[in-house]
Amino acid sequence: MKEYEYKVSAAGRINIIGEHIDYCGGKVMPAALSLKNTVYIRPNGTNKINLSWTTLPDKVTLEIDKLDSYKGLKYGNYQAGAALMWQRAGHKIIGCDMLHDCTVPFGSGLSSSAAIEVSTIAALATIAGEPLDKVDIALKSQQAEREYTGVNCGIMDQYASACGKKNSVMLLACNTLDCEYLPLNMGDYSLVITNCKKPHSLVESKYNERRAETETALELLQKHIDIKCLADLSLSRFEKYSGMFSEPVKKRVEHVVTECERVRAATLALKAGDMVKLGKLLNASHKSLKELYEVTGFEPDALAEAAQSQTCCLGSRLIGGGFGGCTISIVKSDCVDEFKEATYNAYLKATGYKAEFYSSDISDGITVEKL
Ligand code: GLA
Repeated sequence: MKEYEYKVSAAGRINIIGEHIDYCGGKVMPAALSLKNTVYIRPNGTNKINLSWTTLPDKVTLEIDKLDSYKGLKYGNYQAGAALMWQRAGHKIIGCDMLHDCTVPFGSGLSSSAAIEVSTIAALATIAGEPLDKVDIALKSQQAEREYTGVNCGIMDQYASACGKKNSVMLLACNTLDCEYLPLNMGDYSLVITNCKKPHSLVESKYNERRAETETALELLQKHIDIKCLADLSLSRFEKYSGMFSEPVKKRVEHVVTECERVRAATLALKAGDMVKLGKLLNASHKSLKELYEVTGFEPDALAEAAQSQTCCLGSRLIGGGFGGCTISIVKSDCVDEFKEATYNAYLKATGYKAEFYSSDISDGITVEKL
């Protein structure tokens, strides 16, 4: 890649706990992965962005003056959306060639889209000689996902992709963007990431529907109490006011309130190195996503259950937007191979799908290298 000037990467992510609460102002606990999107970039002296990929035969050209016209692209729409939001924020976009190399599996719930958006903006800013404000890049990337690709997402994925730190999880308060970094010390245990390989369907519409339900709940609550975001609702207040919600909104609120509690408990467990407790919280989170938030599905449930039933596994849950994608499991390090084999077989038997396992370290978010 010698002919390129810079190599700019942004990470995929997992989320230890705190699912579907980022857009409710809750605290979430993501971590950036060494699975990432890397952009090799050089200025080309034109008013075009030429895109190519290491893993795809496609080549796409984006006109810098027409960035708003590429929403329908199969490949290149995330890059176009990210560049457009950066341009709208007043930044100059320089014509360039970008070679994208994505090791985050697409559609896996590990935020390949955030990695693409964040690395695209970071690469554009780098060749323009701008200092990198990682939080601002995350916010513009989120805006691209919402306004360009139509997923009304929270800030967790883009923030983790941009601001992650090696061997640390982030405790990110999504209402203020205050972020505490905690070392991920798991003692004798390891995290295993497993893809259920069920193709996603209707993810965007269901995601937006859940988000709308939480907004309805907040508006209703605000008629009675002074509250800024749903994550500020305590369990006792939820119990007091739960009668005013109809189903399914009541279940959605119960998930948000209890998931916020679980994040608090998980923070203590992680700080104390209590993996048994953390594992139980993961299982409880999955149950809540399944029964209250209803964002799992037959295959993700089968995968989580296959993992949870292994004696060397302390806990397992679906991560990300849901309806497919990956689980994370806490597994005794010296049993990881047996765990994978047994989970693979049990899941195959239950669903007919072949689970896929990924090895990844916890890594930095944006990185820039001059070539
Ligand atoms: C997707 C969204 C995030 C978050 C998760 C669920 O990954 O992009 O903002 O809402 O779903 O926790």
